[in-house]
Amino acid sequence: MRFDVVTLFPGMFPGYLGQSLLNKAIERSLVEVHVHDIRQWTRNKHQKVDDRPFGGGPGMVLCVEPVVECVESIRKQGAQPGHAVLLTPQGRRLNQCVVEELAQQPRLILLCGRYEGFDQRVIDILQPDEVSIGDYVLNGGEVAAMVVIDAVIRLIPGVLGHADSNQDDSFSTGNRLLEFAQYTRPREYRGLSVPPILLTGNHEEIARWRREQSYEKTRHRRADLLDGRAREDGARERKEQA
Ligand code: ADE
Repeated sequence: MRFDVVTLFPGMFPGYLGQSLLNKAIERSLVEVHVHDIRQWTRNKHQKVDDRPFGGGPGMVLCVEPVVECVESIRKQGAQPGHAVLLTPQGRRLNQCVVEELAQQPRLILLCGRYEGFDQRVIDILQPDEVSIGDYVLNGGEVAAMVVIDAVIRLIPGVLGHADSNQDDSFSTGNRLLEFAQYTRPREYRGLSVPPILLTGNHEEIARWRREQSYEKTRHRRADLLDGRAREDGARERKEQA
């Protein structure tokens, strides 16, 4: 899968791209990430990328020409034109369903905004999929673009090792429960012991205990995630145990 990131701050990406899972995926040619500097697409002497808003108001607006021309040039590279995603707090909210949808694309072009946003004509011309990573305002779309890349690459076949399978992730399709508590050695630390059930070797009982843990944690913390079916499953399990 190919990602093209369009940003005013390309220097924010190498650290993240060089880390662990993503770095390995890039080395194994499962993922390609190209970072493009919008400033390189300005035509004016001072490489000015933004300007004051027409009609007045605070802040600066990213100009239409460098962004559109940068994206058009990127689209010509590579076999597919790419699905453009604009990171903005005004977009549809990112969740695991949206991540799964984006992971179907062979190529994503991630547009990172700054300041007061893009000139509306960037959106009118490129018609990007506008995505928000949550109801709060970041200083720009760069961190949001990293979040999208991070969540999407986990779904690319081969990126996660077998041991790190995403099947059990809290929000993977069909699994809307939060994760159960995990323990490793030592068996006791500062008077806190590993729950004895985990030391029994009884895999069936352990799996049941974990499901119950997940259910209870979800019920307490995120009851909104429990759809009718998950609620029924939890209730049935508790009845069986009673
Ligand atoms: N840019 C600024 N805030 C953002 C958010 N919450 N999500 C995506 N992009 C953003």
